[in-house]
Amino acid sequence: MATADELKRAAGEAALSHVEDGMNLGIGTGTTTEAFIRLLADKVRDGLQVTGVATSERTERLCRELSIPMATLEELPKLDLTIDGADEIDQSLRLVKGGGGALLREKIVAVASRKMLVIADEAKLVETLGAFPLPIEINGFGMIATYLAIQEAVGELGLSCELILRRRGPEPFITDSGHLILDASFGRIPDPHALSNALLKVPGVVEHGLFLGLADEALVATASGVRHLT
Ligand code: 5RP
Repeated sequence: MATADELKRAAGEAALSHVEDGMNLGIGTGTTTEAFIRLLADKVRDGLQVTGVATSERTERLCRELSIPMATLEELPKLDLTIDGADEIDQSLRLVKGGGGALLREKIVAVASRKMLVIADEAKLVETLGAFPLPIEINGFGMIATYLAIQEAVGELGLSCELILRRRGPEPFITDSGHLILDASFGRIPDPHALSNALLKVPGVVEHGLFLGLADEALVATASGVRHLT
């Protein structure tokens, strides 16, 4: 029986064959992506030429430690490929992301990329999105008003959710862009597009972790091999 770490590594390894010499690469955040980054660093040491753009400070630090050439999105505003993890993936390659709190930069980088490849272990595959709490990045100003406005917007869709302010220890979790995160537990999200539109109408919402129409392919590691979803 493969462990979760072995599956993450297998997904990362499969992703390497999608990386071509000379690519400008968006590099995601999370433990699966970290497995990929370590394997990528070996290839770079062996002569592969790529330039990475990180989706978080954490990823930036790891890539630099491992001597992967890095640039900012300002320097490279168009990328060939982004490789990133996910918290949930459905049959239509719709994703919930942001478990690591990097959803805003992850979405900006994914949109700037010609292609987004998701890497994950099979535990991330779901019939319906929503069992994993949906991260919603909000501005700190008027946090309670935003909280109430989200509840109202969600209620108008006939949904309800528990909204919890993410913390790091006793303090609120602060994203790389200086915002807060509300984790919204829906149980299931029957219409992700409707929820996305409703959330983005709330002015204090900066972004949410629903990635709809962004992922082009996914490499999902299972006990019997890596499945390629398109
Ligand atoms: C970070 C993310 C991650 O990609 C997601 O949380 C999956 O992480 P992991 O590979 O550790 O399970 O969206 O914001």
